Order: sequence, then C-alpha cells, then structure tokens
Amino acid sequence: MQNRRKAIEELKNSIDKDKLPLHVAIIMDGNGRWTKQRFMPRSAGHKEGMERVKEIVESASNIGVKYLSLYAFSTENWKRPKEEIDGLMKLLVYYLRVELNNLNKNNIKINTLGDISKLPVGPRREVEKAVELTKNNNKMVLNIALNYGGRNEILKGIKSILNDIEKGKINIEDLDESVFSDYLYTSGQPDPDLLIRPSGELRLSNFLLYQIAYTEFWFSNIYWPDFREEHFLKAIIDYQKRERRFGGI
Ligand code: FPP
Repeated sequence: MQNRRKAIEELKNSIDKDKLPLHVAIIMDGNGRWTKQRFMPRSAGHKEGMERVKEIVESASNIGVKYLSLYAFSTENWKRPKEEIDGLMKLLVYYLRVELNNLNKNNIKINTLGDISKLPVGPRREVEKAVELTKNNNKMVLNIALNYGGRNEILKGIKSILNDIEKGKINIEDLDESVFSDYLYTSGQPDPDLLIRPSGELRLSNFLLYQIAYTEFWFSNIYWPDFREEHFLKAIIDYQKRERRFGGI
C-alpha cells in the first residue's frame, strides 16, 4: 500500500502541469468481463466500477483537469436486461447521494450529456438536483453521459439549428463549426484532448463523435474496475509525450 502511494506520488510529480489535458473523456468498459473472470454477478462489476469513478474524479480534479467526461449509459445500453439497467440506475442514485456533498465541497460542477428526460423519474430527479446544487462550481466540470449517443446528439443539434433558422434566430451563412458546437451537449466546453478506453476494445462506441476529431486516444487491456489512479496518471503522462499537430506540420 505504502509502495503504491509512493508510486502514485512519483507519477504525479512527473506530470507537466503546463501540458495538462484540459478535457479528458473516458469510456468505462469491461465491468462485465471483470466479473466473469471472478464468477461474480455483472452488478458487482458495475459496483466496483463506481468505486473507480470516485477515485478517478478525485484524481482528475486534484491534478487540475478542467473537464472530465464519463460514459455511464449509452442510448444503446437500453438493450440490456431490465435487471442490469435498474442496477445501473440505482448505482447512479447511490453515487450521487453518497458523493454529492463531497463533489460540491470540492467545487466540482456536475453536468449531463444525453437526453436525461428518458431516465426513470427517481434517477432523473437525483441528477437534476446534483446539477442544480453544483451549477456555480468551477474547479472541474464532471460530464456524466446518460442516455447519450453521439449520432443522436448530432441529429438533435441539426434539428435545433433548422428550428432556429426557421425562426430567424440564425442565418445559414453564419453556421460554422463553432456555432454548431453550441448545439451539442458539450456547448461552451473545449473538445476532449484525451480519450481513455480500458478493457481492450478499440472503438468509440458512439461517444462524442463530433467533439473527438483531434483527440488523442489511450487504450489499455485493464478492465474498468481495475483501472486505478496510477493508470489514469500514466495515460496523462503518455498523452504529454504526443505531438499534436491538428492537421498542421
Ligand atoms: C461498460 O461495461 C460499463 C457500463 C455500461 C456502465 C458504466 C457504469 C459504471 C462504471 C458505474 C456507475 C457510474 C456512475 C457515473 C456512478 P460492460 O458492462 O459493457 O462490460 P463488458 O463489456 O465487459 O460486458
């Protein structure tokens, strides 16, 4: 344990504070496979995954990341068995009940990505309460993606733009990438600098499709319940070694 703390401190010290990713996005994957290895029910993997959410949120905020986006529930996750969906919703409520005061005290602003109107009423109210309570916080924005899908977000944006054009609120000629960004759930936020996906899968799974154009990817075979602060810090250190050219030379 002491050795682990020491290793974490060393990793923290090797992070270049001037080259921190402003926005980190994470696809929290592998909860199911983690439980399969241990002959446990899938719910145990999500529960352990929630512990990692607490750990990584705290670490990100401590090192100075300004936006952290976590993919908690996708538009496709409704296809899962009802029991698993209910379990995930319960975990969300539990997380917010246990952590909200702490998050608020640490000046973290909770924001949602996705259509939360489709969530069951209990979890939705809990999320709305958290968003309202933390709305003036400014140390870090914690985006929790709930009923989120990248394609859905882009379509929703297009529909809103068409509506605003019809109402004369904007002109087609004024529509550019920056205006379009304002119609997304991440309106006003910088695009992710770094996307982390544990569990060995090498895909985006409909996460932040528009925003991720120049994001650096970091993949790992570790399952999310095993993804600890040291892995997060290593991802940041690796990111800092990348040369980002944004299409230039
Ligand atoms: C993917 O693993 C994970 C999810 C669909 C849910 C992520 C949720 C949590 C980490 C828990 C709570 C979150 C919050 C914000 C409190 P999977 O089940 O697809 O894993 P598998 O691919 O190995 O089956």
